[in-house]
Amino acid sequence: MAGGVSSTHSQVRWEAHRRAFEEYLQGLRFTQEARLRGLEEAMRYSMLAGGKRVRPALCMEVAWIFGAEPSLVLPSAAAIELIHTYSLIHDDLPAMDDDDYRRGRPTAHKKFGEAMAILAGDAFFGEALTLITVHQKGSCEEIIEVVRELAGSTGVNGMVGGQVMDMDQTGRAGATGPETLYMIHKYKTGALIKSSARIGAILAGATSEEQAAVSEYASELGLCFQIVDDVLNATSTREELGKSAGSDAEQGKATFVGVFGLEGATREADRAAKRAFAALSKVEGDTSGLQELAHFVRYRES
Ligand code: IPE
Ligand code: IPE
Ligand code: MG
Ligand code: MG
Repeated sequence: MAGGVSSTHSQVRWEAHRRAFEEYLQGLRFTQEARLRGLEEAMRYSMLAGGKRVRPALCMEVAWIFGAEPSLVLPSAAAIELIHTYSLIHDDLPAMDDDDYRRGRPTAHKKFGEAMAILAGDAFFGEALTLITVHQKGSCEEIIEVVRELAGSTGVNGMVGGQVMDMDQTGRAGATGPETLYMIHKYKTGALIKSSARIGAILAGATSEEQAAVSEYASELGLCFQIVDDVLNATSTREELGKSAGSDAEQGKATFVGVFGLEGATREADRAAKRAFAALSKVEGDTSGLQELAHFVRYRES
């Protein structure tokens, strides 16, 4: 994941997670009904456009740390990625960020129209639940815990709530304070990243102490992830990102760069990454992969 000449064991593992995950996603079909092929095509268009797959890979790595085969959690990891993809499709809609470009291609609504984009996003949510409840192996208690995690991190006190706070603050240049900003990032991005780690831990049978330890790491990782997203929006090009650049400032978004400036935002990203590293001291087991992920998230270029 991180650059470098020699590849470490954890790099090899990340690659293995990615490959297994892409293969699983490629194999997903949602319907046999010919009349719904258009919906399935729209879903597969966004889902197979080649995102970084940070959330599912994190879920698989945490499962591995606590002694499970990473492939065990593939249905839940895919459910997480489907919900993430739905959030991106809706985030790009004209009523929200109004973006034309995502994952290196035209956004879903540009390609298939707004109605289909909205519905493809909605359908992902249902299919995510099907993946967990029909295809995920685990005890009833574990499956309910996984659903509860994902529902909580997606709903009002998670991603959707964060998107609402993000919209509320848009165009109010200078009016957003640090406290609100941290809250937006924690909800809109941090919650799902934290859940990704927790779901891996739950399915591997980790204790509540172990779950708490990876949660702390993943919360900081999620915060760092969105701060870096803010920085990249201000410093990179559309070609480098595969999505629009410079749009946060144009639209008056509440971002770390807007509130703290570029240097301040970079410093906040460093601090969050440092706290993520520090939280790993409470995780028993081989955390080399999680260290590498924190490094990747902090220094990623897209
Ligand atoms: C983009 O997420 C939206 C944010 C929450 C910052 P990613 O940067 O994970 O997007 P993909 O999945 O790689 O396209
Ligand atoms: C996206 O936030 C967060 C979610 C989709 C929940 P942004 O709007 O900042 O992300 P990008 O830059 O469009 O990917
Ligand atoms: Mg947005
Ligand atoms: Mg956006």
